[in-house]
Amino acid sequence: MSNKMWGGRFSERPDEIMEEINVSIDVDRHMYAQDIAASKAHAAMLAAQGIITASDAKNIGKGLDTILSEIGKGDFAFKRSLEDIHMNVESRLSELIGTAAGRLHTARSRNDQVATDFRLYVRDVLDETDAALAAFQQALVDRALEHAGTVMPGFTHLQTAQPVTFGHHLLAYVEMAARDRGRFQDARKRLNESPLGAAALAGTSFPIDRHATAKALGFDRPMANSLDAVSDRDFVLETLSAASICAVHMSRFAEEIVIWTSPLVGMISLSDKFTTGSSIMPQKRNPDAAELVRAKTGRVIGALNGLLIVMKGLPLAYQKDMQEDKQGAMEGFAALSLAIRAMTGMVRDLVPDAAKMKVAAGEGYATATDLADWLVRTLKMPFRDAHHVTGRIVAKASKDGVALHELPLAAMQEIEPKITKEVMGVLSVESSVKSRTSFGGTAPKNVAAQAKAWAKRLEKERKLG
Ligand code: ARG
Repeated sequence: MSNKMWGGRFSERPDEIMEEINVSIDVDRHMYAQDIAASKAHAAMLAAQGIITASDAKNIGKGLDTILSEIGKGDFAFKRSLEDIHMNVESRLSELIGTAAGRLHTARSRNDQVATDFRLYVRDVLDETDAALAAFQQALVDRALEHAGTVMPGFTHLQTAQPVTFGHHLLAYVEMAARDRGRFQDARKRLNESPLGAAALAGTSFPIDRHATAKALGFDRPMANSLDAVSDRDFVLETLSAASICAVHMSRFAEEIVIWTSPLVGMISLSDKFTTGSSIMPQKRNPDAAELVRAKTGRVIGALNGLLIVMKGLPLAYQKDMQEDKQGAMEGFAALSLAIRAMTGMVRDLVPDAAKMKVAAGEGYATATDLADWLVRTLKMPFRDAHHVTGRIVAKASKDGVALHELPLAAMQEIEPKITKEVMGVLSVESSVKSRTSFGGTAPKNVAAQAKAWAKRLEKERKLG
């Protein structure tokens, strides 16, 4: 038999290969809830506008509810021969309620249907991602409060640069996550317009009410141009762009966890919950979760690249190429979700080795800038001269194989006679971080205040729901 949905023009079955390349049910079945919600809104509107009868609309609504629960319970037989979620649902509806099912597709096309479903789907993803990022931020804030005064080495070029606090480092990721959330919220605003009722591409001659269906589905308004409504996928691209940036943040943090847990560094450890062993080397404790977060980033960025390439040459309006928009995106979103949850778990799990961090913070003459700043402040030296003097003192300490605070005062005075013993007060890593009180700086006092402010902000957000 030829296809039930458009069989009038056809007399033969599709070739097996045709069916294989055309089918999308394996992917778009994940949008069943959105598809059914959109159909219910459409049917109710058709009845309200007098386009179908109230009793047909009622039967359609009931039938759709039955299908929703059948799919939810795993009692639904998805058929590949029915190509996609839209036709699977409609075909089952006609089994359940007979001819009235055939009226549901009045003033609608699969083109506006799929665009509507996927917008609803991505909107859910955006909301879930926002909640996952809020939980990630909360974990970071809790640990930052705990470690507002824990000194660690700060790095540039992965070389010890200046001492910072562990809490400060964690709060850096809270800020990144806040911008990520902002990007997702922006994407949500632009996404939240309804394509439904654009029909195939040109709109419809039926007196539909697109404002009503938009409202019923929680959209802010109907999309203004029917061609645009069925043919753009920028809402997926924008979400994947934000997701890619977010994944890069996760990946950078994951990479730090890999470095910090290496026995060569040993700044933090993860428990058995977030590590795995080796089948051959009994001593191993591998940070697999962090490594996989790093790798999942490839999937997210890959999904963005893939869809950009699918879209780049498509003329208006709908082209079947666009059916390839979902698989990569859905996989990318799932990868990001897992990455965020894994990072949240590791943030809660990790145990810093504060003693080791403190020693590492002082290595490599990390308080040299504090010495230079002291020369500027106390001896009124221009910073460039102070930099030079400090460089000579560091060279001397390095030659003698001692840390800055271990170098005798006399040795420093040989290089700069005006140096007094007060200088010793700025050479420890604790005094260094304590002195960084500039706005946004690493001083424990700042960090504790920032962490508390974030905790409040997150709590307020939760209350507002
Ligand atoms: N399965 C299709 C998709 O995902 C639905 C839209 C099909 N439209 C069409 N004109 N063939 O894009």
